[in-house]
Amino acid sequence: MIAAQARSIPFFDYPHLFQSEERELTAIFRDVGLRGAFILQDDLARFERNLASYLGVKYALGVGNATDGLLFALRAAGIGPGDEVIFCSHTMVATAAAIHFAGARPIPVECAADHLIDPEAVERAVTRRTRAILPTHLNGRTADMQALGAIAKRHDLVMVEDAAQALGSRFQGRTAGSFGVASAISFFPAKMLGCLGDGGAVLTNDAEVYQRVVQLRDHGRGSDGEIVSWGLNSRLDNLQAAILDYRLASYGGVVERRRALARLYRNSLQTIPQVKLPPGPGDEPDHFDVFQNYEIEAERRDELRAWLTTRQIGTSLPWGGKAVHQWPPLGLHAHLPFTERLFERVLLLPLNLSLTHYDVHTICNTIQDFYQRSPRNSG
Ligand SMILES: Cc1ncc(COP(=O)(O)O)c(C=O)c1O
Repeated sequence: MIAAQARSIPFFDYPHLFQSEERELTAIFRDVGLRGAFILQDDLARFERNLASYLGVKYALGVGNATDGLLFALRAAGIGPGDEVIFCSHTMVATAAAIHFAGARPIPVECAADHLIDPEAVERAVTRRTRAILPTHLNGRTADMQALGAIAKRHDLVMVEDAAQALGSRFQGRTAGSFGVASAISFFPAKMLGCLGDGGAVLTNDAEVYQRVVQLRDHGRGSDGEIVSWGLNSRLDNLQAAILDYRLASYGGVVERRRALARLYRNSLQTIPQVKLPPGPGDEPDHFDVFQNYEIEAERRDELRAWLTTRQIGTSLPWGGKAVHQWPPLGLHAHLPFTERLFERVLLLPLNLSLTHYDVHTICNTIQDFYQRSPRNSG
């Protein structure tokens, strides 16, 4: 079958983020602007309360971005020089950078078949210097927090979570970012809850960690404005918080829409033997995945990608095509064969709110067409 190509399908449509809500966003700009409410104002406090309540955590604190959020979470949890922190190499470099800038040593480990951190690899990587595990809840899926929690307990380790991609994702009914001592979420524009620039939040249930992050994000100031410690400047802008609070109100619908698109992908691609798909929404009782990304494995991935590109279908390689330990300048010197093989096969298909069901059918038909025309299995 030859797929009928109706329109080009970009991997991500950034203008759509503004165009689809231009009137509402312009009204927010005017409202915030006319009030002169730019830094640490009521809109931020309201968003932090609403976000904490949506996720079922005690505290949410808006910060400049999730990278800073992870750094603050680690620092507030007491991680520093001499400590080793275990993370999965299939993550954004930001996860490792936060560990590095906290003064600790990032220890990359393998991912498992679902592309998330492999608890057995974590267990093998524990040394007497290990202080923390930092799992990434990748692609909108929560890591196996039961297994990771058991390892942390057995070795007396701190758990800090990279929930940058996982707002609203759950494991055994509990939200990503609520398991450890602290976690961070990203509001980068392409994230499921995105703002119009950089933004992030730290989540915690711990009052002391909360107080430390209040100081770290705002020049070391305590609640009365006095300087109580060294700090940085990384606050979520009040304007971005107002936009995020507006978007949070309809976030449940965003999650449902993305799960519907993921289900459609699964139903249309599952008969193609050359591709391996992520678990479908609702397939596993422990997981509620929100599908920040749709990440597949594909035989002859580069040829497939070129085929899709010529047919004006955008795709992306996670992290520019390499796991974190594969970037020599970082000096991580690990050999992770499972992850390295995965990075020869892995491909991100478009999954965002500008995508229609018809687009998904077009993409799936085009993939099917590629393998039908040249069904060679090697690659
Ligand atoms: C898994 C992961 N961790 C950390 C980050 C960093 O988030 P930010 O860009 O808000 O600093 C991202 C952002 O893309 C991410 O996907």
